[in-house]
Amino acid sequence: MRRKIVVGNWKMNKNYWQAVELIESLLAYTETRDLKGLEVLIAPAYPFLHYAYQSTKDTKVQVVAQDISAYESGAYTGEVSADMIRSTGVQTVIIGHSERRKYHGEGAQLLGEKIDSALANHLEVIYCMGETLAARRAKAQFEVAKKQLMDVLRPLNRDQMQQICIAYEPVWAIGTGETATAEQAQEMHRYIRQLIADRFDPETAARVPLLYGGSLRPENAALLCAQPDVDGGLMGGAALRAEQFIGVIEAWLTQIPSPAKRGCRSSPGMD
Ligand code: 13P
Repeated sequence: MRRKIVVGNWKMNKNYWQAVELIESLLAYTETRDLKGLEVLIAPAYPFLHYAYQSTKDTKVQVVAQDISAYESGAYTGEVSADMIRSTGVQTVIIGHSERRKYHGEGAQLLGEKIDSALANHLEVIYCMGETLAARRAKAQFEVAKKQLMDVLRPLNRDQMQQICIAYEPVWAIGTGETATAEQAQEMHRYIRQLIADRFDPETAARVPLLYGGSLRPENAALLCAQPDVDGGLMGGAALRAEQFIGVIEAWLTQIPSPAKRGCRSSPGMD
């Protein structure tokens, strides 16, 4: 079975005390809940990564960084390197978020360098991609997806691809309250998986977790996660309130068979 992952991207929200409170609420919930293998990740801002990592160590919550520098080290004021992130204990980083592309002008060349730096420092990557409203209106969403994906994935080898998750986040759905329909998400996720299969091979493509992001809420999560190629979610707004985050997790759990049902395999090794 492919990994199932729910990520809360806090963006530039929460001060230290608010971060402590939210983490404590999530831990209180996950401690007693059978998550059926669903991975729960949070991405707080840089100053709280070390605290977040330490306070979630040996729990069911994992911590992710929101970005890294493409540079390894040196005179780059304000930048945070992959090595610095890794030394906090954090093992995963988001790269290519549409807000980095839009507000910081990040493009294929830089994002490729960031991915190289992450992989060289043993960080798993959640690579974000997605079309703007104008691109969707022009029916160019598949063309955009292909370019955003292939520009950065083409140079990778199969082993490196195992360290990558893809998050499809249509820009028009981020923070707008407008969500892609389950059909739109599935259609794009299937396309992304096919691109990965064409570039690498079907087995590699079958293993890559594909997450959906864009106004994901407890109310729309069940339908989205029921799609065969939607393996998880990357949420912003809903991740800032424990009850909403938990609502999305609960919706996802309804789609994961319980261990008893999973045990119905007729012979060992069949999946
Ligand atoms: P919203 O869930 O607030 O739309 O944000 C999505 C997102 O950008 C997650 O990275």
